[in-house]
Amino acid sequence: MRKPVIAGNWKMYKTIGEAVAFVEKLKPSVERAEHCEVVVGPPFTALRAVADAARGSKIAVAAQDLHWNKQGAHTGNVSPSMLLDAGCTHVIIGHSERRHDHGETDHQVNLKLKAALAAGLVPIVCVGETLEEREAGATDRVLERQFLGGFAGLTPSEFSRIIIAYEPVWAIGTGRTATPEMAAASHAVLRKLASKEFGEGNAAALRILYGGSVKAENIGKLMAQEEIDGALVGGASLDADSFLAIVNYPRN
Ligand code: PGA
Repeated sequence: MRKPVIAGNWKMYKTIGEAVAFVEKLKPSVERAEHCEVVVGPPFTALRAVADAARGSKIAVAAQDLHWNKQGAHTGNVSPSMLLDAGCTHVIIGHSERRHDHGETDHQVNLKLKAALAAGLVPIVCVGETLEEREAGATDRVLERQFLGGFAGLTPSEFSRIIIAYEPVWAIGTGRTATPEMAAASHAVLRKLASKEFGEGNAAALRILYGGSVKAENIGKLMAQEEIDGALVGGASLDADSFLAIVNYPRN
């Protein structure tokens, strides 16, 4: 039985004050949430304050990126141990906005992933095709390239600590969600790759989140898919009530 994860990616939104107010509001409502894990991903500047506010609660804290080196002359970057020091337990890696805005490659994703694992952080690794790639019928091939490149050289036991987020680029921030069936089909492709590379047991236990215009109105249908183990939520995670409605997705 895979425990679902509902994770909020706040991107470049929220001051420290706004981020803490969100957590204070969400905390009591998720106190008894046993059906899923709840993660929020504030910008770097608010990590420490959010981790302090979330301490002892059901809310885990994710950074949105990290550098693979332990320290060094890397202006503007943040190391794995700095994230631990700030109270993070999770880190988002390879988000499409980083791949596109910063030219992040599968190889860099791989370096970041290994650094995160070595530090004991739980990586949430994002993969997904662009609209052009989908329309060219290349979705499965792109997922395979990102999977093999991003997860190269991992041991099965390292792989077992990873969460994958399938985020079709054309669905991010566009209001265009993949249909639950489309998402499930891509999840199945990823799970098959996981089975081939890291064994059937790991594939069966792997949590694959869907991301791309997830909101309270569509989370129920997405979560009804056996293949979908949670969501990585951008826009709809910025408001505590909206995020809570997603956390409390309909279930029977
Ligand atoms: P969105 O973003 O929910 O605003 O589409 C998802 C993401 O980028 O993780």
